[in-house]
Amino acid sequence: MAFSLDQFRLDGKVAVVTGAGGRGNSIGRAYALGFANAGAAVVVADLNQAGAQAVADEINGAGGRAIGVGVDVSDEAQTLAMAAAAKEAFGGVDILINNAALMVDISYDNCETVALDAWNKAFAVNLNGALLCSRAVIPSMRERGGGRIVNQTSGGAYPATGLYGITKLALVGLTTSLAKQFGADNITCNAIAPGNVKSDAGKMLVPDDSPFIQFLQMTCATRPRGEPDELVGAAILLCSEAGSWITGQVIHIDGGWIMRP
Ligand SMILES: NC(=O)c1ccc[n+]([C@@H]2O[C@H](COP(=O)([O-])OP(=O)(O)OC[C@H]3O[C@@H](n4cnc5c(N)ncnc54)[C@H](O)[C@@H]3O)[C@@H](O)[C@H]2O)c1
Repeated sequence: MAFSLDQFRLDGKVAVVTGAGGRGNSIGRAYALGFANAGAAVVVADLNQAGAQAVADEINGAGGRAIGVGVDVSDEAQTLAMAAAAKEAFGGVDILINNAALMVDISYDNCETVALDAWNKAFAVNLNGALLCSRAVIPSMRERGGGRIVNQTSGGAYPATGLYGITKLALVGLTTSLAKQFGADNITCNAIAPGNVKSDAGKMLVPDDSPFIQFLQMTCATRPRGEPDELVGAAILLCSEAGSWITGQVIHIDGGWIMRP
């Protein structure tokens, strides 16, 4: 079939976006609004149930279709309940964006001193959460003839220099595993690795005048910081007909910070 711009549309699709209801200007919110704009019904999922509902209300108020769901992605029963809520509201799931993560509220201690509880909690959310959400929705994707999973990793995984980066590098391993294991079911799995994004969380963690931003200024090919909305196009590509042959990849969106030819 000849290419058409319509291949980027997500009409009739159901997308679950985790971590989309937390801090005001978040990457998850940008994904949820972007997917709704592209035509998808959206399940806005977050530990912060009221925040998830607020983003769902925003989508519904603009003429889209969304529900807000409270979920702890590290709790298997809650991820299954999230998938059931998606099925009840919209009939199933076609797209999953594993965006929920600990980033601000994570230990930045080094490997000698980091508390094991903090280590385990970080992996429970940032890695196991993506595993649990994926396997909660894969049966529905299979029933519907295929699906798309996008894992939100980070430029901080290259190289992984601390707990956060280590969890995000592990998520790349989950990405390639899911891509291999479920490709035959027409389920693709890719990752997005943003650089430094000016979400509310990103700005809280890294102020504009921090040495890290000065480092990025010298390292990035273009701008050192991006906006949440600048990630949405790539996510839609990976989840639409236009990206149907892309799987097992990490797309870096970071102004040319991490270049991996
Ligand atoms: N902001 C950046 O510079 C940047 C850069 C690279 C990658 N990322 C990644 O992008 C994603 C979104 O980042 P953000 O800047 O919008 O941060 P954020 O803190 O606003 O988003 C994370 C969301 O995950 C939710 N969450 C945390 N634990 C959860 C749990 N157990 N179950 C369900 N939800 C949970 C939070 O409530 C929050 O809404 C994260 O995966 C982050 O690691 C961010």
